[in-house]
Amino acid sequence: MNAEETLIAAVEKASVENGVAEKDVSKEDIVTPWDVSSTSAKGVDYMKLIEKFGCRTMTNDLVERLEKLTGAKPHVFLRRGMYFAHRDLTVILDRFEQKKPFYLYTGRGASAGSLHLGHLIPFIFTKYLQDLFDVPLVIQLTDDEKFLWKGMTVEQAKKMAMENMKDIIAVGFDPEKTFIFNDFDYMCPPFYENIVKIWKTVTNNQARAIFGYSGEDPIGKSAFPAVECAPCFSSSFPHIFGTKKDIPCLIPCAIDQDPYFRMTRDVAPRLKYSKPSLIFNTFLPALQGAQTKMSSSDPNSCIFISDTANQIKNKINKYAFSGGQATIEEHQKIGGNCDVDIAYQFLTYFLEDDDELKHIHEEYTAGRMLTGELKQRAIKEVQRVVATISERRKSVTDQTVEEFRRIRKLKYDF
Ligand code: TYM
Ligand code: TRP
Repeated sequence: MNAEETLIAAVEKASVENGVAEKDVSKEDIVTPWDVSSTSAKGVDYMKLIEKFGCRTMTNDLVERLEKLTGAKPHVFLRRGMYFAHRDLTVILDRFEQKKPFYLYTGRGASAGSLHLGHLIPFIFTKYLQDLFDVPLVIQLTDDEKFLWKGMTVEQAKKMAMENMKDIIAVGFDPEKTFIFNDFDYMCPPFYENIVKIWKTVTNNQARAIFGYSGEDPIGKSAFPAVECAPCFSSSFPHIFGTKKDIPCLIPCAIDQDPYFRMTRDVAPRLKYSKPSLIFNTFLPALQGAQTKMSSSDPNSCIFISDTANQIKNKINKYAFSGGQATIEEHQKIGGNCDVDIAYQFLTYFLEDDDELKHIHEEYTAGRMLTGELKQRAIKEVQRVVATISERRKSVTDQTVEEFRRIRKLKYDF
């Protein structure tokens, strides 16, 4: 199956599960763990995606409930709709309210030496949730996945995972509350037992319907999803949760990862485990435009954490797709289009000040603010975000990584 057929199969399965009529299924946007593309310069139609995948819209009521429960102003990503959808978030909020335990789980498949800005979104948000909820966090690095999918040796895949761990740690996670692991090194008996239980529960037909593998693919590709599912079950981490097998997790990730967790949610009750809850973010667009996400497979589409301030400036000036007009006269007459402008999109993610963002939107749309000026403002914010993380990364040594990877009890008793 090609990517599109894969998506359609996944969508059809979700539609059947969720009672969405097949005729409603749109073929325009492609969103799978491997491909994200849209025909619209405004990017993926997320509202359609919610219907296709059968998740729930992140409503204002939910954001308000979170604010009330925690007493903290909601994160920019919540205020501006970057976290646009969820599955069973209320289960987690209920538990928080009742002071019952849960944990956070997220991950990364290291296919490049450095994280890009898009990857930062779920990690920045997970760090915010860790501070807010004060619960354990597990972070999986799927070096096995990259060995299977990319032209890498086992050693290369492991090395890349280690390097990426440093970027992730630099986001600011608390070592007393965070366990980071790579699959090749963590594969311990309880984790493996869960993987095998998942293997026994999911048929080839189901895996193909969700992920679209073909007969020519290596069997490792069909086997891999169980490895991404198993960390959803607390029994995979006895050093953290002791003998507790029923502690549910909340997974912050971009919506492309949903197929893995649809599968997990299907399997969980059959294994007598809790279903994971999820909260999904939109894709930070590629520099060239929102038709695709920022992706390491095209380095020119990305700003990496390892980029210097100067590289960031040059990339945004050179590549960031502009919603401005061709000449100053025209721009002043017609105005700019924020919906397709990448510099503006970046500001929606990274500029904290709601009033300033609103002002920029007005000025640019009216043609009073020019593209150069808008890019200048975006460059400054992106440089600020990257500098904060790359500064912190300087103090992350191999020893720091070992501290986060060590099999140990976190500060919580279970
Ligand atoms: P990976 O390494 O492709 O992506 C890591 C995380 O970043 C999200 N993401 C983005 N978010 C916003 N804008 C973008 N342009 C963008 N590109 C990627 C991804 O959705 C993901 O949340 N198989 C996984 C690794 C993994 C994982 C997990 C992810 C293992 N367990 C649990 C999330 C949750 C992968 O290759 O992610
Ligand atoms: N699209 C990813 C990349 O360009 C590969 C990838 C991400 C992937 N998540 C996955 C492959 C899950 C298989 C399963 O690197």
